[in-house]
Amino acid sequence: MKTPVRVAVTGAAGQIGYSLLFRIASGEMLGKDQPVILQLLELPMEKAQAALKGVIMELEDCAFPLLAGVVGTDDAEVAFKDADIALLVGARPRGPGMERKDLLLENAKIFTAQGAALNKVASREVKVLVVGNPANTNAYIAMKSAPDLPSKNFTAMLRLDHNRALSQLAEKAGVAVGDIEGLVVWGNHSPTMYPDYRFATAGGKKLKDLVNDESWNRETFIPKVGKRGAAIIEARGLSSAASAANAAIDHIRDWALGSNGKWVTMGVPSDGSYGVPEGVICGVPVTTQNGEYTVVKDVEIDDYSRQMMDKTLAELEEERSGVAHLLG
Ligand code: NAD
Ligand code: LMR
Repeated sequence: MKTPVRVAVTGAAGQIGYSLLFRIASGEMLGKDQPVILQLLELPMEKAQAALKGVIMELEDCAFPLLAGVVGTDDAEVAFKDADIALLVGARPRGPGMERKDLLLENAKIFTAQGAALNKVASREVKVLVVGNPANTNAYIAMKSAPDLPSKNFTAMLRLDHNRALSQLAEKAGVAVGDIEGLVVWGNHSPTMYPDYRFATAGGKKLKDLVNDESWNRETFIPKVGKRGAAIIEARGLSSAASAANAAIDHIRDWALGSNGKWVTMGVPSDGSYGVPEGVICGVPVTTQNGEYTVVKDVEIDDYSRQMMDKTLAELEEERSGVAHLLG
């Protein structure tokens, strides 16, 4: 029997948590031979703690053979203690009359505290995935608040955008989703993101040739992927949850177990390549192996792509400068 992996999840009693925890406990994220201990964080309010208790009761009732323990807490230092993986899902939702800037500042407080707690008690190899919005900037704040942990351990979720793009492309080109390789979504998890299939292939054929429709790319595909989150909210009256949980599982599974040479999109701290300012957490193409990700280098950036990337980078920089005063 392998040693259990400690997986911390914040916002565990929320909608994404409810779609996520049962799949982690059944082995879909780390493998069918890998026991896990779930360390679940919720707000201290009575309602949140009661809901968390109910979720834990349901986890018990599944009798998952791989679930080696569950901890429920309102204390980040308990949830993150020796955590090997931390899924930061809980965040302050946008309230009535709240501007994006206000949302950023409210979440900055949460992710400063959680970054500091990770810094203090998590495994030094902890893999952190930030899902709570604004995901890229929240990940940046957590990373900056955890100076004793390697920056590369902090990532933001663009995998949902990547999966959305795969699905749209597969339908348009008449190919199987699983056959598509070489896709990336650059930038921020926001409508400014740039889904880019210039180098994608399916079964050895170029997607560009199969689609052969640049106006579809610019006028339908890019905006549709960028605004998909809003379209889900419009349709469901709630933001995406099952697909977001699925993307979180894909992100961590590939990071931990490898992507078999395939490009996947991760929001990672920039090393300065592609004109992304150093440290900014930006969606880029990566491959993963042996628990590490490697940014795919030397992807050609043409004029249109530069323009699209500059737009999403300007937004990321604006978000970063909006929270700079909180980070010392
Ligand atoms: P939700 O409101 O259903 O659940 C969030 C949970 O987090 C709640 O139970 C709340 O009590 C808890 N929470 C809030 N602040 C917390 C804190 N400081 N510590 C611990 N728990 C805390 O929301 P949801 O639908 O699960 O979505 C969670 C977040 O994920 C939102 O910010 C949403 O915008 C974001 N999201 C991101 C993506 C992405 O692709 N990156 C996709 C979908 C949703
Ligand atoms: C999504 O992409 O579905 C979410 O980020 C939308 C949201 O605002 O929660």
